Amino acid sequence: MPIRMKLVAGNWKMNGLLDDGAALTRELKERATTASAALGCELLICPPATLLSTVGGILAGSGIALGGQDCHAAPKGAYTGDISAEMLADLGCSYVIAGHSERRHGHGETDAVVRGKVAGAWRAGLVAILCVGETQAQRQAGEAVEIVSSQLAGSVPDTAAAATLVIAYEPVWAIGTGLTATSEDIAAMHAEIRSRIPSGTRILYGGSVNPKNADTILGLSDVDGALVGGASLNAADFWAIAQSCPAG
Ligand code: PGA
Repeated sequence: MPIRMKLVAGNWKMNGLLDDGAALTRELKERATTASAALGCELLICPPATLLSTVGGILAGSGIALGGQDCHAAPKGAYTGDISAEMLADLGCSYVIAGHSERRHGHGETDAVVRGKVAGAWRAGLVAILCVGETQAQRQAGEAVEIVSSQLAGSVPDTAAAATLVIAYEPVWAIGTGLTATSEDIAAMHAEIRSRIPSGTRILYGGSVNPKNADTILGLSDVDGALVGGASLNAADFWAIAQSCPAG
């Protein structure tokens, strides 16, 4: 894989029952296996845990990767309701998201907890997609860079390497709101992040990425792909975003 091959990842969050999850996956597989031109990116789907097996089965042979939305730091044990990175790997996942703002803010996950999850992902042989991002109040207070830097310092394990780490910069105020950061702000933050992580590590942008803004965002030089929530629930929209990656 070329260094920093773009990655477009769909985070379905808590959406999808068996029928609609399978239908959406089949639509994507159909596009991936019949597209006339090769995409300029790698594609990843992160369905809810209940659909991993079904989605993974349909994706076989499509070239689209499968990922989890979260994992526990431990390989196994008395952690009711949790899922280990080993369990995700067992189902065919090659990626897992860690530290999404909906987990940091909705489940009180600290940088230390997220760091443990990233280490767990690596132990199981998965690539970790580590999410960072500031709230609106923090950006307005001029603290965005400081917040993101401290999240990186606290949640990236010392043994980080470009091949197994992806950073997703997702301003919290842009997630699910239809708001996106300006190109200048995205470029500036991605450059800041790049100065703090191993060379060659991919940095995705996330937060209301859609077919209309994808060309601009994915065209920025330090943006190595997108983490897509809402728009990943529609096959045509997700595919259109993927097609915005310049073929390399
Ligand atoms: P959104 O979600 O595209 O719906 O804003 C992105 C994310 O939370 O990863």
